[in-house]
Amino acid sequence: MNSKESQPRVSYSGDVWLALYEEIDNLHEHAMGGDRVVQGFAGGLHRLIENDIEISEEVRELLDIRLSKRTLSSNPETRKEEIEEQAAYFVRLLFSATQRLYWGEDKHKDYPHHPEYTSVDFWQDELRNSYRKESETFAQIKNDVKSRELMSNISQRYLTLKLLLASEGERWDYGPNVLDVGCSLMHGDMKLLSEGKVSFFDPPSVRENRKNQEGNYADIDHELSEIMAEIALREYMGREKGHHTGVDRMSTLDNDTIAWARNNSFWPKEIIEKPRLLEAFDEINQQATDPKVSSRLNYIAADFTQDQRELFSDRRFDVIFISTMLYQLNKEERKIAFRNARELLSDDGLIVIQDGAELDRNDPEWLSFSAAKFRQNYQYKTYIYDAAAKDRGVQLFLIWGNGRCRQMVFANSRFSLETKDKLLQKF
Ligand SMILES: C[S@@+](CC[C@H](N)C(=O)[O-])C[C@H]1O[C@@H](n2cnc3c(N)ncnc32)[C@H](O)[C@@H]1O
Repeated sequence: MNSKESQPRVSYSGDVWLALYEEIDNLHEHAMGGDRVVQGFAGGLHRLIENDIEISEEVRELLDIRLSKRTLSSNPETRKEEIEEQAAYFVRLLFSATQRLYWGEDKHKDYPHHPEYTSVDFWQDELRNSYRKESETFAQIKNDVKSRELMSNISQRYLTLKLLLASEGERWDYGPNVLDVGCSLMHGDMKLLSEGKVSFFDPPSVRENRKNQEGNYADIDHELSEIMAEIALREYMGREKGHHTGVDRMSTLDNDTIAWARNNSFWPKEIIEKPRLLEAFDEINQQATDPKVSSRLNYIAADFTQDQRELFSDRRFDVIFISTMLYQLNKEERKIAFRNARELLSDDGLIVIQDGAELDRNDPEWLSFSAAKFRQNYQYKTYIYDAAAKDRGVQLFLIWGNGRCRQMVFANSRFSLETKDKLLQKF
């Protein structure tokens, strides 16, 4: 046994390695965030790790690289939990690093929308090629795994709705009805409706992220951003709450899925702060049983790219929120989803779209989901379609530092400038 093997870290990675098998199976069973590409990836990886010794050693090497930065608790119970967390984290990291190779590469033009990306056979073949030791792709993945942090799926994104309901609340003299398309576990909606007990509002700031090509960050008054956040919060708290209907194609509210999500909630920072987050997870679910909240929540399992007329008959919504969902659809499906949203929108309603998307230069009314954007930073933005100003099409509203939604600036669109004015008038 050489000296490296005798260090405790090695046995740690051995334990994580075992937990990894289970985690990969889990991911293959339950699509992460509804992402079917992950399911295919996990299935392909599972087969390779079992059957291909060379690839299995390479994945193990990556795991060692990542774990070399971590320490492990000596308490057996905490240790077990940490091992599971590390396994969960590692698979997601591997997926993100692998995915990065696909976004924006010419030969993977339709990534991730072509059905083959959901196939286990496809990923088995691809990973066999791209994880070969001497390959350039494996070197890139290694680099990425060393340094990368993942995006997160946290209800922080829903503070967009707070800003919006605060500035636009006067459009409706009642609590507006919200349709949340791709609502996942509805945690964002639950938090919005139970606000007052659990606060999750981080004032947006742009201090750490000024060099954005689109955002004219130099012109932004940082203090103004924070002041507006505070005004928005105060305004929002005073507003009447409406009803939130969530629609998702996964039957996300079944107990198995909720338990699974709880165990995986969610990403690096969250994993580090896991005890606190698990408490928050339970607290939110608990609050959602309060009749004041539950009577305002409604969940529908449906595919939003199908005809919605039967589901909603002539119902209309004041705000339709499509957050971090369209990227999972192909171009045609995205158009259908947008058309469905417009049909379900009230005459003075707003559609809010959040995603890694740009305004489409060829079609000013719509967005382009250019894969190249995912190569560098995750360009997460919020767009607005205002039924009362249809001719303006989709407008850029907010630019976020990343998917965690901790740094934000108002864009220079008409809608953004008007929102700022409305908020400042309330100051
Ligand atoms: C990444 S999650 C986003 C969750 C949440 N909206 C947020 O912003 O954090 C995407 C969700 O969209 C759902 N989804 C994807 N395609 C859908 C479709 N065609 N119809 C309904 N839901 C869909 C997935 O099942 C998943 O729960």
